[in-house]
Amino acid sequence: MKTQVAIIGAGPSGLLLGQLLARQGIDNIIVERVTGEYVLGRIRAGVLEQGFVDLVREAGVSERMDREGEIHEGFELAFNNRRVRIDMKQLTGGDTVMVYGQTEITKDLMEARAAAGLQTIYQADNVTLHDVKSKTPSVTYEINGVKHHLECDYIAGCDGFHGVSRQTIPQDVRTEYERIYPFGWLGLLSDTPPVSKELIYCKHERGFALASLRSASRSRYYIQVPLSDKVEDWSDDDFWAEFKKRLPANTAKNLVTGPSIEKSIAPLRSFVCEPMQYGNLFLVGDAAHIVPPTGAKGLNLAASDVSALYKILTRVFKENDKSCIAQYSEIALRRVWHGERFSWWMTNMLHNFEGLSINGADDRTFEKFMASELDYYTGYEAGRRVIAQQYVGLPYEELE
Ligand code: APR
Ligand code: PHB
Repeated sequence: MKTQVAIIGAGPSGLLLGQLLARQGIDNIIVERVTGEYVLGRIRAGVLEQGFVDLVREAGVSERMDREGEIHEGFELAFNNRRVRIDMKQLTGGDTVMVYGQTEITKDLMEARAAAGLQTIYQADNVTLHDVKSKTPSVTYEINGVKHHLECDYIAGCDGFHGVSRQTIPQDVRTEYERIYPFGWLGLLSDTPPVSKELIYCKHERGFALASLRSASRSRYYIQVPLSDKVEDWSDDDFWAEFKKRLPANTAKNLVTGPSIEKSIAPLRSFVCEPMQYGNLFLVGDAAHIVPPTGAKGLNLAASDVSALYKILTRVFKENDKSCIAQYSEIALRRVWHGERFSWWMTNMLHNFEGLSINGADDRTFEKFMASELDYYTGYEAGRRVIAQQYVGLPYEELE
């Protein structure tokens, strides 16, 4: 088998890239380890920057998103019995974000891909990348024990944090930067009306909490928990009781509880792999970087990688100009590090680090710095604007 771009992984990165390339007449095949149903069963993020929304529109898959997605003009930060609204629209001169679940985007992209007759190979075992530095890279995989061979010009490694693509780059060529946080997020999804129309990020002495949503009838809530906690330790009732304690009192009284549809604990990690390309292999999205969810940047950074690679491959195939290929890693990483820094900063400001070890010490001074940071940035319009500009998303970079 032969294609122009072999895409590893049918998450949002791989599917969005595949759709955009196909619209430019660039042939691509996706090779995915699990089934489509399994991919759709993963509950992930739900806040889309304008850049992401525009890209989905350019891919021609925005019909349901534009109909069902909610535009959000602001969100709140709650701490010390105070509530500060970050008026994104006013502070940025008109920018907003859209609330529409990653699962829904993934579903829309999968359906569009199937309707366009584009090939996705699901349940591929032992996916292996070959000769990625050569002009003739290829991918092998097994279906029911039978080996298959896919030849291509380029490989897009969109296979998430645990994928094979990053591991294909020799260890002496890549540098990995990582920070693991001493707590996790316990998330609960429920078909209950959201407690607030806008997201509320709450810093509380009992730990961080986030009130988020998927629609007018579906809520997504999170609480900071110790890393040692297991999801089985948390009944729905336990979750609701703890979540309620961490919400501002006048909001908590409106909380509607109900059975969970999904409940899981996610660790928090900052991770970047440099460079994001090796020969004719490009890493995209979670394959190259992870952010803690505070700030909703994970999916959005995947989208800016997709945008950069899409522009590069379009120039390569449509204008036969290969000189732009070398720009990918640099362009992608610049924006990735901005998102990494913002997510790390929001995580530090909003979580409770009391009694937890950071840099090997129980750092009360760090707590004080962060409390002041939050007070300062929320207390001045210039500070709120800094938060708003990053939350709606920094601009995408153009190719040289
Ligand atoms: N071979 C083929 N496919 C693989 C392999 C492999 N060895 N390993 C993993 N995959 C698949 C996974 O099954 C998954 O469907 O690659 C896909 C990667 O998808 P995601 O993990 O969702 O990563 P990505 O598409 O980059 O999405 C961006 O942003 O907010 C974050 O975590 C959130 O998923 C989101 C991500
Ligand atoms: C979510 O709705 O899942 C969500 C929203 C904002 C975040 C993280 C997660 O910062």
